[in-house]
Amino acid sequence: MDDARWEHGSDFHWPGLDIAGTDDDASRWLAGLEAIRYAAGRGALRALLDHGGWPRVWLPSYVCAELVAAVGDRVRFYADDPSQAQGRIPADAQSGHAIVRINYFGLRRPNSAATLRERGLTVIDDHTHDPCGPWARDSDADYCLASLRKSLPLPDGAVLWSPVGGRLPSKPEACEAAAAKLPAMLLKSLYLAGHPVSKPRFRALAIAAEDRLAELAGVGMSAVSAELLECLPIAQLRARRRENFQAFASHLAAEEVGLLQPADPSLTPFACVLLFPSAVARELARRRLIAARIYPAVLWPLDELPDHRAMFPEACEVADRVLALHCDARYSAADMQRVAAGY
Ligand SMILES: Cc1ncc(COP(=O)(O)O)c(C=O)c1O
Repeated sequence: MDDARWEHGSDFHWPGLDIAGTDDDASRWLAGLEAIRYAAGRGALRALLDHGGWPRVWLPSYVCAELVAAVGDRVRFYADDPSQAQGRIPADAQSGHAIVRINYFGLRRPNSAATLRERGLTVIDDHTHDPCGPWARDSDADYCLASLRKSLPLPDGAVLWSPVGGRLPSKPEACEAAAAKLPAMLLKSLYLAGHPVSKPRFRALAIAAEDRLAELAGVGMSAVSAELLECLPIAQLRARRRENFQAFASHLAAEEVGLLQPADPSLTPFACVLLFPSAVARELARRRLIAARIYPAVLWPLDELPDHRAMFPEACEVADRVLALHCDARYSAADMQRVAAGY
């Protein structure tokens, strides 16, 4: 990266592949998975719910708007957020309903679905934040999904599979229009390397591509993403994410802020998720970071959900105070050190 153009976060650029070979256990596992491939995670969930026909679908109270929209009128919420070890399943989650669990930021240990299944619930696990992590790979849930484009440099892509051989929806057609973000990723990559590329231009392309993907949602993963996925050394990229998290954690000096830690040090966090003492402190830090060209993510604003704050004050209170800093394989330990010094 050209130092004058150095920045951190926001959308993926195409990083090039300086790590050779895809003959690693995670790449092999993902390639061998009997999964249906979608352009986006929300499309995978929507297709599964339409296929399964569950009358009620329980989502954790700390959740992204895309999943809520995919569930639609069937939605009910149960209390869960990343500061907890696991969610509190209410008594009215009944036989015949489906329940979605999220491995928030890849921080959680594998958690068996057996108890929930004994209650007659169909368990759907969301492994977007660590698609090839131990919980995803050892899952005994009825269904699992993962939006791959959130942790890997792909313009689109998500997978839906059933670890227990449950019936899956029929395969959607591959859709090239879903890969609309690729030009933005390439231009951003050239921009970062110092070439004469306009930042507003690739930003506009990325935003338009995200809107396009939202419209398409339930279509199949593009052929170009499928090809790129074949080339990605998933285990190495994942290892870099873990190393980057550790580099950030060891250089974070600010005492007033907490860093959400994995339940076990061998786990691979999706991002460095900071927990501030208040929403005001979070906002001040966000502005300071942006001024230093560090673009964090607010995952997720919950106030758009009607009555949510009254019903789930704990999840809303955590959502008010978190800021997620990217630590994926785009970045080096030196980048993460620079980000940690950004406070
Ligand atoms: C945990 C989780 N699941 C699902 C999704 C939805 O994925 P997509 O944007 O590919 O529809 C997201 C997106 O932020 C997410 O963070």
